[in-house]
Amino acid sequence: MKKRRLKKTVLIIPVVIIIIIILTIIGINYYKKINSYPYKLEKIGYSKDEITILTKLKDRQIDNILKRKYNIVIPRLVKQKYFIFDNLDRYLAYYKDHEKEKKDVIVSKVNVNRDRDYYTKTKEADTNLNYGILVNKYYYLPKDYAPDDLQKVSVLYSYGEQQLRKEALNQFINMFNAAKEEDITIIINSSYRTYQYQADLWESYSSAHGSKWADSYAARAGYSEHQTGLAMDVTTYGVKGQEGFEKTKAYEWMINHSYEYGFILRYPKGKEDTTGYSYESWHFRYVGVDLAKKIHDSNLTFDEYYAYYMK
Ligand code: DAL
Ligand code: ZN
Repeated sequence: MKKRRLKKTVLIIPVVIIIIIILTIIGINYYKKINSYPYKLEKIGYSKDEITILTKLKDRQIDNILKRKYNIVIPRLVKQKYFIFDNLDRYLAYYKDHEKEKKDVIVSKVNVNRDRDYYTKTKEADTNLNYGILVNKYYYLPKDYAPDDLQKVSVLYSYGEQQLRKEALNQFINMFNAAKEEDITIIINSSYRTYQYQADLWESYSSAHGSKWADSYAARAGYSEHQTGLAMDVTTYGVKGQEGFEKTKAYEWMINHSYEYGFILRYPKGKEDTTGYSYESWHFRYVGVDLAKKIHDSNLTFDEYYAYYMK
């Protein structure tokens, strides 16, 4: 009799242990589940598809979303290629006033500060970026800023007295020679400008055509990338006014090859509201060969590229 009871007890012990193990595993899994991001996001109201989008974010970013109420717009913004998490509140605020705008447009606009008026909340441009410096209606150069490696451009390549930063000039000459081989002449019309020169230029545009027109073609003093010594307006023989450049073979050549020498078209057609300037077929900016290729291949304006990849 005693032996049988002992046998029973011996049998019960492993069964109990197994049950405890199973319950522990179930408990751990349940604990894991209720602490998982998908579960928490689902609790707020996000669908499976939305959760797939949101869980690609970093942990601290998901934590941030979990603190908010369900918002159908958030995953639609997060899904955009150039979504920047730190801009989320600005995207949402911009969306409120522009509900009909496509989400990629909202992301692009806010990334380049177009949710703010021009020349507001401006910051000093980051000169540490060297050839990658961004100067636009939101990033300025101090009044006394001048690059320390400016060089005079030979009249072989320019109209009037011109200066560019050393590397930009060397690359311009390489580009000039390459174009020459195809019987194309690229001439520099305007390049480095001082703060004061830019101030006078803007004033002259403004008194001739009004401030709105002036703002669409010229930067206010301190906000022109001509002050970096890396920007240049180009032309070729036989062109009347700057607008005429677009119809030349030289323009076509520049569009196809300038990035190989480190230059990008800075104010493209159709991107006026992104760059803040009318289309300027003549204004090219030296950013260095590697960066120029990346910007060229991205199909983004420099303003957009900077916001997403360089800031
Ligand atoms: N034309 C360009 C925008 C400038 O003035 O810098
Ligand atoms: Zn220019």
